[in-house]
Amino acid sequence: MAVSAQLVRTEAIAASCAMTPRICCVNPTAGAKSLKQTSFCPSSWTTGQRLCPNSSVQSSHNSAALKPLTVTMTATMPPKADHQVSGIYVPKEVHAQVTHSILPERLEVIKSLDAWAEETLIPFLKPVEKCWQPQDHLPEPSSEGFYEEVKELRERAANLPDDYLVVLVGDMITEEALPTYQTMLNTLDGTKDETGASLTPWGVWTRAWTAEENRHGDLLNKYLYLTGRVNMKSIEKTIQYLIGSGMDPQTENNPYLGFVYTSFQERATFISHGNTARHAKELGDAKLATICGLIAADERRHENAYSKIVEKLFEVDPDGAMLAFGDMMRKKIAMPAHLMYDGVDQNLFANFSMVAQRTGTYTARDYADILEHLVNRWNVTKVEGLSAEGRKAQDFVCTLAPRIRKLEERAQLKPKKSPKTGTFSWVFDREVQMW
Ligand SMILES: [Fe+2]
Ligand SMILES: [Fe+2]
Repeated sequence: MAVSAQLVRTEAIAASCAMTPRICCVNPTAGAKSLKQTSFCPSSWTTGQRLCPNSSVQSSHNSAALKPLTVTMTATMPPKADHQVSGIYVPKEVHAQVTHSILPERLEVIKSLDAWAEETLIPFLKPVEKCWQPQDHLPEPSSEGFYEEVKELRERAANLPDDYLVVLVGDMITEEALPTYQTMLNTLDGTKDETGASLTPWGVWTRAWTAEENRHGDLLNKYLYLTGRVNMKSIEKTIQYLIGSGMDPQTENNPYLGFVYTSFQERATFISHGNTARHAKELGDAKLATICGLIAADERRHENAYSKIVEKLFEVDPDGAMLAFGDMMRKKIAMPAHLMYDGVDQNLFANFSMVAQRTGTYTARDYADILEHLVNRWNVTKVEGLSAEGRKAQDFVCTLAPRIRKLEERAQLKPKKSPKTGTFSWVFDREVQMW
C-alpha cells in the first residue's frame, strides 16, 4: 500500500451520510515541506495554477497530502454563504482553485483521440427521434382526459411519504442545474465546445449529452408540480441558487480528471434514480417508477460512454489515466449539487444527503461500490508500466473501497443514535426523519 498512515474515522458515518466521503491522504514524510513546494506533486499535474482564493498561498498539487490520512464520511460541508451588498448569494469554496493542470504531451494525447471519439463515443448518443420525451409520461394538456389523468396522478402521489419526496426533489434539483454541468464539460482543455456549435466529436457529444439530460429535470419537475405535494416556489428558488452557485468538482480544466469525474458521477445518478424507481414501485406509483427507471437507463448509457473514454486513456496513456483516477479519488468525488441552498437552510445538501442515506437511495456503500466497479471496469489492478507515482495511485485506488467499507461497517456497529428529524422547505417545512 502506498500510503501507510492510519485511518481515522472522525464522525459517525451513518449519521452524516456518505454522499461524498471526504478522503485525504498523507505522505507522512512530507510534513515539513512548504506548501509552496510542488515536489510531492504527481509528475503529471504540476503545470497548473493552484491559487487559494482566500490567501496568496499557492498550494501544492494536493494540499491534503500534508495531513494525516483521514477518512470522514460526511457529506460535503455546506458552503459558507457570502451575502454581498448586491444581495447575490455567493458560496465560498474552501479548497484551492486549480486550473489548466494538464501537461502539453497529455493534451496532445487528447487531441489525437478525435477519430476515436467520432467512431466510439458518438454512437452512445441516441437520435432525438428515438428518445422518449417528458410529454410521453405526463398527462396530455390538449386532451379532454387531462384533468382525469392529473387526478389519477395526484391520487397515486398522495401515498408518497415525505422522505421519498425530499430525495426525489433533491434529485430533480440536481438535474435542473444542468447549465452548470455543461459549463463544467466546456472547461475541459482539448474537448470543450470552442464555439458553441463546434463540429468536433467532443463538441457534438457535449451538446447532445446536455440535450438528453435536459429531459430528466424537465420530466421530474413537471411530475412533481402536478402531484401538488411539494413547495414549487421553494424548489424553484433552490434551483436558481444552485445554478448561481455553480460547482467545482476540482477537475482543473483537465479532461483526464473530468472524465474520471463524469464516469463516477453518471454511475452515482444511475444508482440513485434506480433506487427512486424501486421505491416508487414499492410505494404504489408505477408510473413514477417508470419515469425514474427511464432516467436511470439514460444515466447508465452515459456512464458507459464516459467510462469508455477513461478506458481509452488507460490504453494510450496508462500512467496519466492512473494518476488522474488516484487524484480524483484522493480529492473525493463531490456531488454536483453540493452547493444547494434554498434561502433558509445552510445545511440543505447535508440534510438531503442524510435522507438519501437513510432511505437507501444513495449511501456510503454505493460510493465504495462505484469505486470498485470502476477499478474492475478499467482493470486497474492489472495496469503495468507505471511510474512510481502511478503505482502509488494504483495502490491507493485499489485499496480504498475496502477501507471505506470497513469504516462503514464499524460505524454500523456503534450504538444507534436516537432518531433525528429536520424540516425541509421543499415539503412545506414538514418534519422528515434524517436518521
Ligand atoms: Fe440526468
Ligand atoms: Fe447524467
